[in-house]
Amino acid sequence: SLNMFEFFWKYRDYYMKGIQFTLLISALGVVFGFILGLFIALMRMSKVKVVKLLATTYIEVVRGTPMLVQLFIIHYSLSAFNITFTPIQSGILTLSLNSAAYLAEIFRAGIQGVDRGQLEAARSLGMTKRQAMRHIVLPQAIKGILPAIGNEFVVIIKESSIVSFIGVYDIMYQAQILRGSTFAPLNPLLVAAMIYFILTFVLSKLLGVWERKLSASDNR
Ligand code: ARG
Repeated sequence: SLNMFEFFWKYRDYYMKGIQFTLLISALGVVFGFILGLFIALMRMSKVKVVKLLATTYIEVVRGTPMLVQLFIIHYSLSAFNITFTPIQSGILTLSLNSAAYLAEIFRAGIQGVDRGQLEAARSLGMTKRQAMRHIVLPQAIKGILPAIGNEFVVIIKESSIVSFIGVYDIMYQAQILRGSTFAPLNPLLVAAMIYFILTFVLSKLLGVWERKLSASDNR
């Protein structure tokens, strides 16, 4: 019988397709999650009570419920109200909406971690609050939380495996297909695990290198 490497090689076409889908939906999920998460973080820090409550509720509800349930609601329940998405659309939407809630909290910590003096100095130079936020506070905040954002990408690559449930042809889906067609009890999943591990391991190493470069540029 085949070892896992031979198994991978024999069915590489399946796994390669899976990797493409996994990376596509994860990358888009984190990019859209980043944008939405930033808005929610800013809303969360608003002085307007309703806006703040809306953002807080969103964060709490999304983080307090399983992403699998969120995925099924978006993919299956919404169709009862004639809102239909393809599996890929539902997958990207769920990952984005979910990631936004986690990223919003990361953004908030990052923004609050920027010295108040930075905002005050910018204001004293005549910037509006919005300008100071946009040009002075946010760039520093984002730089400070890049490791956490990178970590969110790693989490999403792994957690994106749930989209296989709704028929996105990702790594996990391919493993399930191969499990059913080869009847091999271990190899299909072992290879899937190995691929997820390599993806997250390489990504973390790359993020580490990038992070060290950025902090080196701080020593001015
Ligand atoms: N298993 C968790 C859940 O279902 C994962 C949440 C995703 N985490 C994240 N940082 N986006 O809720």
